[in-house]
Amino acid sequence: MAETGQIPEDVQREEKAAENKVKGLRAASAVKVKKVAIVDKDNPAMALFKQTTCVTCHAVDLKGAGGPSPRGVGDRLDKEAILTIVKNGRGQMPPMAKTATSAGLSGQDIESLAGWLAKQKSEQ
Ligand code: HEC
Repeated sequence: MAETGQIPEDVQREEKAAENKVKGLRAASAVKVKKVAIVDKDNPAMALFKQTTCVTCHAVDLKGAGGPSPRGVGDRLDKEAILTIVKNGRGQMPPMAKTATSAGLSGQDIESLAGWLAKQKSEQ
C-alpha cells in the first residue's frame, strides 16, 4: 500500500462516494435551473409521472414546481436511490408509493418510472 503508492480499493470507493455526495449537494442547491433537455420524452414513464401526480410538485415540463427540477436528476441519483425517495419520501416530499398504487401503477410501473428518471442526465 504505502510501499506501492497504491490506494486500496475500499478507500477509493469511499472517496468516490464522498465526491458524489458533494456533487449531489451542489446540484440540489443550485438556484438557477440549468438548461437540460428531457431525456427519452416518448417513454411511457412520462405518462406515469403525470398519472402519479409527481407533476404537482415537479411539473409536466420537469422544470420543478415547489419540488426540484428532475431534469438531470440522473447525474446525482441512480434508480435505486430514486425508488427509495419515491417509497420513503425525502425532506418536504411525502412517501409516494401508496399514491402511485392508488393511481393504478404496478410495482413494475414504479420501477419503470424510477428507471426513466435515472436516465435524466444532463450530459449524454
Ligand atoms: C408534494 C410535492 C411532491 C410530490 C407529489 C412529489 N415530489 Fe418529489 N420531491 C419534492 C420535494 C420538495 C423534493 C426535495 C426533497 C428534499 O429537499 O430533500 C423532492 C425530491 C425528489 C427527488 C430527488 C430530486 C433531487 O434532485 O435530488 C426525486 C427523484 C423525486 N422527488 C421524484 C418524485 C417522483 C417520482 C414523484 C411521484 C411518484 C414525486 N417526486 C412526487 C416534492 C414532491
